[in-house]
Amino acid sequence: MTTTTQEGLQVLYTRQQIAGRVAEMGEQITRDLNGEKLVMVGVLKGAAFFLSDLSRAIQVDATFDFVATSSYGKRQHTSGAVRLIKDLDEPIEAKNVLVVEDILDTGLTLAYLRKHFLQQRPKTLRIATLLDKPSRRIEKINADYVGFSIPNLFVIGYGMDYAERYRNLPDICLMSPDHPE
Ligand code: IMP
Ligand code: MG
Repeated sequence: MTTTTQEGLQVLYTRQQIAGRVAEMGEQITRDLNGEKLVMVGVLKGAAFFLSDLSRAIQVDATFDFVATSSYGKRQHTSGAVRLIKDLDEPIEAKNVLVVEDILDTGLTLAYLRKHFLQQRPKTLRIATLLDKPSRRIEKINADYVGFSIPNLFVIGYGMDYAERYRNLPDICLMSPDHPE
């Protein structure tokens, strides 16, 4: 049976499924860090909830920073151009950096950010994404940690938006193409 929310949206991953997977990712990241410190870099705004939960599932000394890039606007597809709206507050040279993203889609955003961050010569640069849509890839880029790999669906909730709405849905839901706005 398909789960639907009060708003009639179809649920792809429940809050319990998300919590379980985030806990596993946190354990893996903790193991890989071997006791070293971490700088978690969240990509605003979509990764806000994921970073908040993932950071509490990681058992190392961690600090936060945030970047923001240009978004999709009101449509469900990308313009192709990535623009940095907000850069890092602190230098990341010689640090262990984990970029935390909500969705790896075409890869344009993370390919741009990876290049930008590598210019600062971090000690390590890894990527954690909650969702991955490998079939949509334009840039050759993969995440080191993937929550769930999904087909080409447009999703909302748990930080992810459609025209800035639905970010506060606790579950990850499907945005149906005919959903009334
Ligand atoms: P990329 O540059 O195409 O990889 O796009 C990455 C960004 O597009 C993600 O961080 C999301 O903000 C946004 N995005 C891609 N797919 C979806 C979706 O299904 N729902 C909501 N936002 C999405
Ligand atoms: Mg995003």
